[in-house]
Amino acid sequence: DSADRGRYRHFMEKEIHEQPEAIATTLNAHLDGTRICPSLDPELLGRVRAIHILACGTSYHAGLVARYWIERLARVPVSVEIASEYRYREPAIPEDTLLIAISQSGETADTLAALERAEHAGYLSTLGICNVPESALTRQCENVLMTRAGLEIGVASTKAFTTQLTVLLLFAAALAKAREADPGMIRQVLEDLGQASQQAREVLAMDGEVQQVAEEIASKAHALFLGRGPEYPIAMEGALKLKEISYIHAEAYAAGELKHGPLALVDDTLPVIVPASSNPLLTKLISNLQEVRARGGMLYVFADRGVSLAPAPGIRMIRVPAPHSIISPIIQVLPLQFLAYHVGVLKGTDVDQPRNLAKSVTVE
Ligand code: G6P
Repeated sequence: DSADRGRYRHFMEKEIHEQPEAIATTLNAHLDGTRICPSLDPELLGRVRAIHILACGTSYHAGLVARYWIERLARVPVSVEIASEYRYREPAIPEDTLLIAISQSGETADTLAALERAEHAGYLSTLGICNVPESALTRQCENVLMTRAGLEIGVASTKAFTTQLTVLLLFAAALAKAREADPGMIRQVLEDLGQASQQAREVLAMDGEVQQVAEEIASKAHALFLGRGPEYPIAMEGALKLKEISYIHAEAYAAGELKHGPLALVDDTLPVIVPASSNPLLTKLISNLQEVRARGGMLYVFADRGVSLAPAPGIRMIRVPAPHSIISPIIQVLPLQFLAYHVGVLKGTDVDQPRNLAKSVTVE
């Protein structure tokens, strides 16, 4: 087992570092010259009028990011739902809806049950996004796009998540193309995706800086994550990672909801962790951050190159060495994975096998 971990202390650390390669391998698997996701029938894609995405845990967060991408690029309405909720309700399914199930393992009981339930519900077709070939999910779906993360051992998903995002952005581009979207826009997405692996490599070099932040967070009882736009699900994923690995109570809010509750929690004992991308919502995000500062909350802002936020007491800026682009969520999650990892190590938890959790939840 120590041989498999190579020079790393834990599988989670190793798997975080494997992401640049996993992203590149996944990208290559689904691009063939100018053809995007060549395994999917363009005629089928052209017929899609709506999308339902089902998943659990980290895979659910990947689905939430994908909603921003698919609606923006392909102009197809998307709903994203936790599989354990979907399987017991009576969803209304519009005509020509594609069902997408996302699962690293392909064996999550609720996701499989939701898929089974959907089989006779009148969907146009089903698409599985999965990391394990020959899993129950890949057998059950009519179409499959594999993530090429390789074996993921750490219970907390890292490289499976970023490769799911890679596949989902490719899928959004393929769908946009089938619906005759602006070719320039699609080219730009592919160009940005082409930068993802290298940008991920540069961001992983921030490890030391993130470790310093971890030292400040490790003594806290609670943490609040805030995000806007596609960084909101990334804030959710950051909070999930922190609670799984370090047992610190963490929750994520859409920054615009601050005044509807979480602001009441903010005082000088609460760290507020923010993935910030220089997207058009930045000024709004910054005004949310000022609200937090005014109540004494300590801010940790993971800001890309384009974010200009004046340094001030109580605001710690951690510079993410990447520009803003459509791939920002893939890049922004990396320092949050490191943060959870280092806080876990500092607290002495079993980071690869957190208490009470399993890699794959195969019973309800
Ligand atoms: C468990 C794992 C998570 C994973 C979730 C969904 O909770 O600990 O890391 O995200 O299951 O698993 P799946 O294999 O369906 O993606």
